[in-house]
Amino acid sequence: MNTPSLLVLAGDGIGPEVMAEVKRIITWFGDKRDLAFDVSDDLVGGAAYDAHGTPLHDDTMAKAQEVDAVLLGAVGGPAYDDLDFSLKPERGLLRLRKEMDLFANLRPAQCFDALADFSSLKKDIVSGLDIMIVRELTSGSYFGEPRGIFVENGERVGINTQRYTESEIDRVARSAFELARRRNNKVCSMEKANVMESGVLWREVVTAVHAADYPDVELSHMYADNGAMQLVRNPKQFDVIVTDNLFGDILSDCAAMLTGSLGMLPSASLGAPMENGRPKAMYEPVHGSAPDITGQSKANPSACILSFAMALRYSFDQGDEAARLENAVQSVLAKGIRTADLMQADGGKAVSTSEMGDAILAELDASL
Ligand code: IPM
Ligand code: MG
Repeated sequence: MNTPSLLVLAGDGIGPEVMAEVKRIITWFGDKRDLAFDVSDDLVGGAAYDAHGTPLHDDTMAKAQEVDAVLLGAVGGPAYDDLDFSLKPERGLLRLRKEMDLFANLRPAQCFDALADFSSLKKDIVSGLDIMIVRELTSGSYFGEPRGIFVENGERVGINTQRYTESEIDRVARSAFELARRRNNKVCSMEKANVMESGVLWREVVTAVHAADYPDVELSHMYADNGAMQLVRNPKQFDVIVTDNLFGDILSDCAAMLTGSLGMLPSASLGAPMENGRPKAMYEPVHGSAPDITGQSKANPSACILSFAMALRYSFDQGDEAARLENAVQSVLAKGIRTADLMQADGGKAVSTSEMGDAILAELDASL
């Protein structure tokens, strides 16, 4: 079999800093585990705009379609705030998601034991938390037409359209049920069927997919506002949550913060299988470009490193190696080695981005 290919799009802000550590990890797997990857780099977001005047060059888009997986750092920054909407760094990311048809966005929210004190919630509510949000990523109000700012009756009106087809709901529901079977076998579907027709259809289709093919999985439904409330009231009631693009954006940030730091959370965006059987895939940390700490070697590379662990698991069928990497990150935390985002007021000295990388590599070595 050919060496699997990775396209690294480090992007903006802390993206390149955290991705540099991921690259060391990738090299480690090639050297020590005989898992070599063919890695190429390209630009996305503001970095692509600076070089090419567009947040994603067509050549980069074409490369992304050809590789086995894309690793993305982060996009955006204050320098690009005043750009036209179509040129904003975020459009590069949205184009990748849409054109690769990465409809299932997996956002695990796991509370690492060593970090339970960092949550804004009481420790017993979050310790041991392990939930997976499956966010629909290619449709809904992010992409629905009509959209735009128009003039009507002498004033401007901003329009976005929440739109879901049955097949779009069906496929993301299947992803959620399949994942649940490999976890605690529970899915909670969230929408606003009380006020939105798209929510009524969502609930109907999820119910039908469940009855037809996944009756062994426990399914419940919740209005998304109640879901937000339940996430902070009693998050451990959930296993897999499946929801649309916009609710998923919001609920996943909420779930993420339960765990104490956005700097720890990875994500996978998966599409249909390619010819080689691997899903179209992009992996990215949930945190953004963090302009406030860019260039200071303060960023926590863990989320980006854990995103590569998800790539090992979901693209390359290397669940054991993914677990090795996840365990290495956990061991580092258990030893009290922390980047600045994980320091308590009275805490000791924070390590730098590359020192965190060193510590994770040392744990990987120790795992052999
Ligand atoms: C996310 C981000 C993106 C989104 C932005 C950067 C476009 O918030 O991945 O959650 O809204 O989807
Ligand atoms: Mg978001």
